[in-house]
Amino acid sequence: MKPDTRLVHAGREPQKHFGIVNPPVYRASTILFPTMAEFERRQERKYTSFYYGTHGTPTTMALTQALAELSGAHRALVTSSGFSAITQALLPFLRQGDHILVADTVYAPTRMFCQGVLARFGVEATFYDPLAGEAIADLMRPNTRIVYAESPGSQTFEVQDVPAIARAAHRRGAVVLFDNTWATPLNFRAFDHGVDVEIQAATKYLAGHSDLLMGVIAVRDEALFRRVKDGLDEFGDCVSPDLCYATLRGMRTLAVRMRHHERSALEVARWLAGRREVARVLHPALPGDPGHGLWRRDFLGSSSLFGMVLRTDQGRAVAAMLDGMSVFKMGASFGGFESLILPARPERTVRPRPGDGVLIRLHVGLESVDDLIADLDAGFARLNAALER
Ligand SMILES: Cc1ncc(COP(=O)(O)O)c(C=O)c1O
Repeated sequence: MKPDTRLVHAGREPQKHFGIVNPPVYRASTILFPTMAEFERRQERKYTSFYYGTHGTPTTMALTQALAELSGAHRALVTSSGFSAITQALLPFLRQGDHILVADTVYAPTRMFCQGVLARFGVEATFYDPLAGEAIADLMRPNTRIVYAESPGSQTFEVQDVPAIARAAHRRGAVVLFDNTWATPLNFRAFDHGVDVEIQAATKYLAGHSDLLMGVIAVRDEALFRRVKDGLDEFGDCVSPDLCYATLRGMRTLAVRMRHHERSALEVARWLAGRREVARVLHPALPGDPGHGLWRRDFLGSSSLFGMVLRTDQGRAVAAMLDGMSVFKMGASFGGFESLILPARPERTVRPRPGDGVLIRLHVGLESVDDLIADLDAGFARLNAALER
């Protein structure tokens, strides 16, 4: 079945629930066992069924089944935020003395976690050029356990050669972790490109309504599943069934929303590319973008999130533009129905950020493109007036 159809049916079994279309919300801490013998077997149930609320309920299972189906994964797990999915996907594979390779363009808290927590516990991180591709082999050490990728980078939108990176990692026995929040599994089939563990912030497109936080860890096989699941259990992180229900509800419209986001973002990006105030638009689906070739080869579509480098480096003038926006709002995140605009200040140690002017990140929501463009047009008028003062 095609992804649109899968998204409608995945994780639903109405015949088990009086014909009710959506799986119900099962809330639980305690789960009861009828016999002592069954209670003694509870440990094994955590991989396949339920035995205490932290391991989820049938509502959690409905969501994780749908997530695994969406990704083409063996199994999927949920965590309390996208960031907690990142940290909890990393930790089960690492111990003191290990080494990890991390793309220079990763989500900022991922970088901070590697530099802070991992360093404190004796794990060394090397940040690599996101454009390294096969050359990542030169950075591999005997103790390199993980190669961590995120493509495109969510502030500057460099596209990574994930299959080449995965080949190099696998030759040396490292696992490949990949943050697929930007594209979602609809637009990047992580497991087809060599990824072992796919991470997503369900907070963004999957939930889709800016009203909850959740992370997803999807894995290639049972051994990886048990490793990550055991790791999660060591920390006690869990997700409420009410939020699982809400994310599953969001996923029913994911394909429709993603197509709308993609189309509108491209329209806005093309309009911005024609503006004299803009030095460069950072969007891999635009033919002139340096990442366009790899994006065309590996991705099935794009999303709402892209960047632009302004010609000016004057923060005061850019504030005049952003402070007066009426449709675009300022706030962290993306993937919701509402458009967002923010200045971006990526930290880099290997690959310099593109251009010298102020970097702006846009999330194009579900509003009319005409209104979004009019809002940006008025914003540029404020920017130009401020520059002339
Ligand atoms: C690419 C990427 N990954 C992960 C996360 C973390 O998600 P959450 O906000 O749910 O912790 C974010 C959040 O902005 C993100 O942009």
